[in-house]
Amino acid sequence: MSLLEVRQLSVRFPVRRGLFGGVRAWLRAVDRVDLEIQTGETVGLVGESGCGKSTLGRAILRLIEPADGQIIWKDTDITTLSGRELRQWRRQAQIIFQDPINSLDPRQTVGDAIGEALDVHKLAPNRRERQDRIAALMESVGLDPSRASDYPHEFSGGQRQRIGIARALAVQPDLIVCDEPVSALDVSIQAQIVNLLLDLQRTRGIAYLFIAHDLALVEHISRRVLVMYLGRVVESADATELLHHPLHPYTQALISAVPVLDPDSRRKRIILGGEVPSPINPPPGCAFHPRCPWAEPKCKSIAPALREVKQGHKAACHLITADNSTPGNPTATNT
Ligand SMILES: Nc1ncnc2c1ncn2[C@@H]1O[C@H](COP(=O)(O)OP(=O)(O)O)[C@@H](O)[C@H]1O
Ligand code: SF4
Ligand SMILES: [Mg+2]
Repeated sequence: MSLLEVRQLSVRFPVRRGLFGGVRAWLRAVDRVDLEIQTGETVGLVGESGCGKSTLGRAILRLIEPADGQIIWKDTDITTLSGRELRQWRRQAQIIFQDPINSLDPRQTVGDAIGEALDVHKLAPNRRERQDRIAALMESVGLDPSRASDYPHEFSGGQRQRIGIARALAVQPDLIVCDEPVSALDVSIQAQIVNLLLDLQRTRGIAYLFIAHDLALVEHISRRVLVMYLGRVVESADATELLHHPLHPYTQALISAVPVLDPDSRRKRIILGGEVPSPINPPPGCAFHPRCPWAEPKCKSIAPALREVKQGHKAACHLITADNSTPGNPTATNT
């Protein structure tokens, strides 16, 4: 049984005429995405800004309503849960953001910010226990419990991220969506936060959906990685396989931009032409075709399905052959 299974999930946002006008079009932020997360594992999610990563992360937590598809949590369909049942389920899956300063109330002490999560789910029977739990949570993320009565602005960026993590941990979740949790931090602090997340995973068996820009970090932290382009998953595989043997030209371009990850330093950097197209009116056929160095006429009319091209490795491209050779790498990469 998977912890989470997402089937053909889509999220659309209305594009209105003026502020209060009628719906003029729909923006397809997430388009028929399948995703599975097992207990205690990390799945990485990468792709350029605006490709739908945050929307997918929020939709699986039911913070944004999906337009279509199913969200299965431990064999139970939670797609249409509402009211008390939804509130109870929320305890099991949490989210942490890029800069928790936006999600922390500046007038609330850190102790109260963490305590609020305990209160919502009635996890502390009395005042004494509440204080003890807050102190234990602060300690578990490396914060000094004597600072429980300080305010968020009195902490550094890294410490604020620790507060965000403590608040997520308060309800003992099985899954945390980490939405670019270290992108705003100094490199040295990033490593500390990543190590904290890895430690917490080891000791508590928490699963993460880890959204990030930094591909080296994603490889380090994730077991599997999904690559999104214009709301769709275009490639997925085990982290090492995906980052060292990418098959989709979009993934190859992303990876070629990170020299340290490129196993063949002689390989040329692939520079993608053109702008990212609008998800309001995505290109027909393969949505990547206006920027694709390999595009053929059929790419403009036929959308490639995401298919298993080798064991555990899926890609959505017409030109990847059965032996995994591609126009970018005519020799099969079946290693
Ligand atoms: N609340 C919203 N209303 C309308 N459009 C949105 C909203 N949130 C995100 N979008 C749009 O959905 C697309 C995906 O956004 P997002 O999920 O934030 O991407 P990412 O996290 O990969 O940068 C973008 O085109 C963005 O402008
Ligand atoms: S299907 Fe065509 S346009 Fe799309 S990635 Fe493959 S070669 Fe490029
Ligand atoms: Mg985002």
